Amino acid sequence: MEDRLFIFDTTLRDGEQVPGCQLNTVEKIQVAKALEGLGVDVIEAGFPVSSPGDFNSVIEISKAVTWPTICALTRAVEKDIDVAAEALKYAKRKRIHTGIGTSDSHIKYKFNSTRDEIIERAVAAVKYARRLVDDVEFYAEDAGRTDNEYLARVVEAVIKAGATVVNIPDTTGYCLPEEYGRKIKYLFEHVDGIDKAIISTHCHNDLGMATANTMAGVLNGARQVEVTINGIGERAGNTALEEVAMILKSHADIGIQTNINTQKIYPVSRMVSSLMNMPVQPNKAIVGRNAFAHSSGIHQDGVLKNVQTYEIIDPHDVGIDDNSIVLTARSGRAALKNRLAILGVKLDQHKLDKVYEEFLKLADKKKDINDDDILVLAGADRSQNHRIKLDYLQVTSGVGVRSVASIGLNIAGEKFEGCASGNGPVDAAIKALKKIVDRQMTLKEFTIQAISKGSDDMGKVHMQVEYDSQVYYGFGANTDIIAASVEAYIDCINKFKA
Ligand code: KIV
Ligand code: ZN
Repeated sequence: MEDRLFIFDTTLRDGEQVPGCQLNTVEKIQVAKALEGLGVDVIEAGFPVSSPGDFNSVIEISKAVTWPTICALTRAVEKDIDVAAEALKYAKRKRIHTGIGTSDSHIKYKFNSTRDEIIERAVAAVKYARRLVDDVEFYAEDAGRTDNEYLARVVEAVIKAGATVVNIPDTTGYCLPEEYGRKIKYLFEHVDGIDKAIISTHCHNDLGMATANTMAGVLNGARQVEVTINGIGERAGNTALEEVAMILKSHADIGIQTNINTQKIYPVSRMVSSLMNMPVQPNKAIVGRNAFAHSSGIHQDGVLKNVQTYEIIDPHDVGIDDNSIVLTARSGRAALKNRLAILGVKLDQHKLDKVYEEFLKLADKKKDINDDDILVLAGADRSQNHRIKLDYLQVTSGVGVRSVASIGLNIAGEKFEGCASGNGPVDAAIKALKKIVDRQMTLKEFTIQAISKGSDDMGKVHMQVEYDSQVYYGFGANTDIIAASVEAYIDCINKFKA
């Protein structure tokens, strides 16, 4: 019989908690549909009690998705569980994911409680959730730093109370692989009734060991892994789905299968990166731009003679096709629509027309339009309803001269102009912008990244601007990086609460 590992994707919950990565409901549905196409077993769609937006997203994802189980997170609190059950009402398969901190520091500092009382609360939450749904997952938060003997008592109690899955999170990413594997093994050896539930891993990457820890868990009996696309997640992130899927595919000798259609990995990775404005580091395993690029002479020579000399994965197996540069100014609307469909993006006619218009403008500036460009264009109308829009921007800069910028803004239909000099083109443009939008705001972080290659490439700019003691995240993409920077700054301003 097949030894099957269930893939629980939490890109839309743990991944989406990353500041600046928030998606609207339409975007979340797009990601959820892509995850369904990828073959994940469970989609953690949100934490419904945390906000009306999360509540609504869980409802809409439940309606949109057919095969995967839809999961909603709660604390071990009846109100949370009620709200989660309500949000899941349209899901064809539903799961409530409830839990509580079990490490001594959580028990003492977070709950001011005792070990026994925490078990009582855990059991009560699971029993309560089981009255509302059949599938209840329990998480023992900070299990990575929870003493194994006590953890085994918790796990035994929640399984008796009806938990169908028990999640053992290494919440702080602290464990060593051997230590995490031993923890899972300990549970299998000491928990009565452990065969009645699936044991799940949930590893964070604070010390760069999330995937290694997850694999140690799997090798010691865990049969569900909680992962995100591109390893996105709070702080250093979560275990990357693509890494676990490709480890198991490459090491067929382990004998564990997943339902992941690995050829969809790359398109889904690009989609998530683009929608969440979260660049993938170039050397990221499996999905980084350089993951299959051999630059040293010795490697190139070897790969040309036989790819297996240096490549353990065929790039086609993860959906990287050599024809990813596909569109040019001569491509028609149908070609654009087809490429978008391959990337998992479905647009109505009106939106397609708009994206096509932008596509033609970009194709005027740039010879080859690649998948990343297309995804940026498809997400570009986020700024359409913004109060402040960039009307024009003119910058002169050079070596040995001060840069000068003049800028025109359209603020709620009214036109404004500003002009300033600065110690570089971006500095001048932002100073000119600040002459119009006169607020106490500070640029905290500023990154520019070329999307692919070539001097005519689009630049993506991520910015963080502090205003009124809060940090706002902005994004801009343009073949002109000064314009992309100004767009990102304006994107931040448009998000200011006051
Ligand atoms: O990292 C963690 O402990 C979590 C739980 C809420 C499952 O994300
Ligand atoms: Zn987590």
